[in-house]
Amino acid sequence: MLSQLTLFALAGSAHAALRFGCSTITVQRLDPVVEPGKIPSAHVHQIVGGNAFNATMEGDIGEKGTCTTCAYTEDFSNYWTAVMYFRHENGSYKRVPQYPNAQLGTEGKDAPDIKAGMTIYYSQKDLNSNGNQFIRAFPPGFRMTVGSPSASTASYGQSHPGLRYTCLQTILTRGGETADFPTKPCPAGIMAIHHFPACWDGKNLDSPNHQDHMYATTKGGFQEAAPCPASHPVRVAQVAYETMWNTTVFKDMWPKNSNKQPFVWSFEGNGYGTHADYLFGWKGDSLQRAMNSTCMFHKCGSPGVQGILKTQTVAEMNNCAVKKMVDEDVDGWLDRLPGQDVMPMRFRD
Ligand SMILES: *[C@@H]1O[C@H](CO)[C@@H](O)[C@H](O)[C@H]1NC(C)=O
Ligand SMILES: *[C@@H]1O[C@H](CO)[C@@H](O)[C@H](O)[C@H]1NC(C)=O
Ligand SMILES: *[C@@H]1O[C@H](CO)[C@@H](O)[C@H](O)[C@H]1NC(C)=O
Ligand SMILES: *[C@@H]1O[C@H](CO)[C@@H](O)[C@H](O)[C@H]1NC(C)=O
Repeated sequence: MLSQLTLFALAGSAHAALRFGCSTITVQRLDPVVEPGKIPSAHVHQIVGGNAFNATMEGDIGEKGTCTTCAYTEDFSNYWTAVMYFRHENGSYKRVPQYPNAQLGTEGKDAPDIKAGMTIYYSQKDLNSNGNQFIRAFPPGFRMTVGSPSASTASYGQSHPGLRYTCLQTILTRGGETADFPTKPCPAGIMAIHHFPACWDGKNLDSPNHQDHMYATTKGGFQEAAPCPASHPVRVAQVAYETMWNTTVFKDMWPKNSNKQPFVWSFEGNGYGTHADYLFGWKGDSLQRAMNSTCMFHKCGSPGVQGILKTQTVAEMNNCAVKKMVDEDVDGWLDRLPGQDVMPMRFRD
């Protein structure tokens, strides 16, 4: 870990790489990218970012938000994934709690922690230096998804190296990625990792499947991606999410007479169905300004550190909220996953 941190500091640079924490803004069944206008949407999501988040989101989101749960106050984007649930052998489900990245939001020992949420990256090369290709910021209205809730096979996992899990031995474990959920209890929980494609067709803000306007040359594991193809020539930032799921709460409840691991995504899916959504909402030219700079991570600004980007305190991040638009319990012990009208698993196998 230490040698890696030293490399970050010494890195030569041409374009910035951002890495910052965002606390949870809401957990509910809404999906303005895949199911705009639908209240509720098909499955539960955990969402971070700006408070313009809503069932429908059009236009320049950077001009609509008034607060954000992200460290950077000009970032009103929304970032979300499905929610991980524990499936008890008695057939009931319980939402797995999230915890923040221990390396972010460190303002001092009396300061509050980031509330759950995710770590967000905008990078280009790898974690040692930020690369020298021009990184174009996304235009207002831009959105995309990565992964698919209908995926369920190892071959899908193989062809999507950016979608991975790490079985956390400690809260700082990195590497040792798997394409499906870890099959044994993990001492510090499970980190879910989503790398989006970073090559854009340069024209479309979206596409019917929310993916065709983008092209992935991602190799996974924060390695430098291959060059963009002629069909998708514009290099944009490599957006990535890391979500820490605190599965330790359930370590004594693993099924005794089965070698099946007990976690499912909120659409009743296995690990290969992992997916994530991105809706761009940086204000004005703030993301381009950051990408044009040469800062890496913490030096671009973070709570308590001044940089090219304006920051806020963790208390301010945690204070930003949106109201609950779907009135249902997503947190208690549940008979079935919210929105999943299928027969509960215990009657099926
Ligand atoms: C969400 O959208 C509805 C319907 O368009 C609107 O009435 C409401 O004010 C919006 N909420 C927020 C937080 O923007
Ligand atoms: C399953 O076990 C959990 C944890 O003990 C309990 O809260 C829940 O009510 C149980 N569900 C059923 C259907 O028995
Ligand atoms: C995970 O949950 C357990 C049990 O509630 C708690 O003791 C522990 O502090 C949590 N871990 C983190 C990193 O928040
Ligand atoms: C970023 O750099 C490009 C290329 O040098 C330049 O055209 C653009 O004006 C810069 N944008 C900002 C916001 O600094």
